[in-house]
Amino acid sequence: MAQILVIHGPNLNLLGSREPTLYGRHTLAEIDAMLGDQARQAGHVLRTFQSNAEHELVERVQAAASDGSEFILINPAAFTHTSVALRDALAATGVPCIEVHLSNPQAREAFRRQSYFSDLAVGVVAGFGADSYRYALDAAIQRLPTHPHIQPDLPPRAVGD
Ligand code: DQA
Repeated sequence: MAQILVIHGPNLNLLGSREPTLYGRHTLAEIDAMLGDQARQAGHVLRTFQSNAEHELVERVQAAASDGSEFILINPAAFTHTSVALRDALAATGVPCIEVHLSNPQAREAFRRQSYFSDLAVGVVAGFGADSYRYALDAAIQRLPTHPHIQPDLPPRAVGD
């Protein structure tokens, strides 16, 4: 069992009513509940955090260094394109992360093509609406140190074991 942390940046509390043609109609509570179920079914624990304030996001990421979080999914929202502080906090934790976006920032305004997180992240999932989070959580689960696929080889078993 591992702890996975999901961090949502500014304005994502408005999901459901915020520019639905870009971000879909799922509320943040629905997305968090869906991810919680997905993590539970895989035997893991999910924590979520949303803030509109950069310093609160920085503090939550800092706390992840010592609260047992083994993987972080982060949608930094508008801070993707502006926040060296949040980037530095993530780098300082040493916890692996996946950058998530509902929309595909590369296909939008030029200012959204710059991300302060992509080069730190294990990977980026963008453009699939709420499913971006599902795919990212699946990828995180596959990469957990406790995942059977990346455990060291077990000694050969005797016939009949
Ligand atoms: C976003 C993309 C950002 O450019 C934007 O500022 C957001 C949401 C996304 O999930 O598509 O707030 O991160």
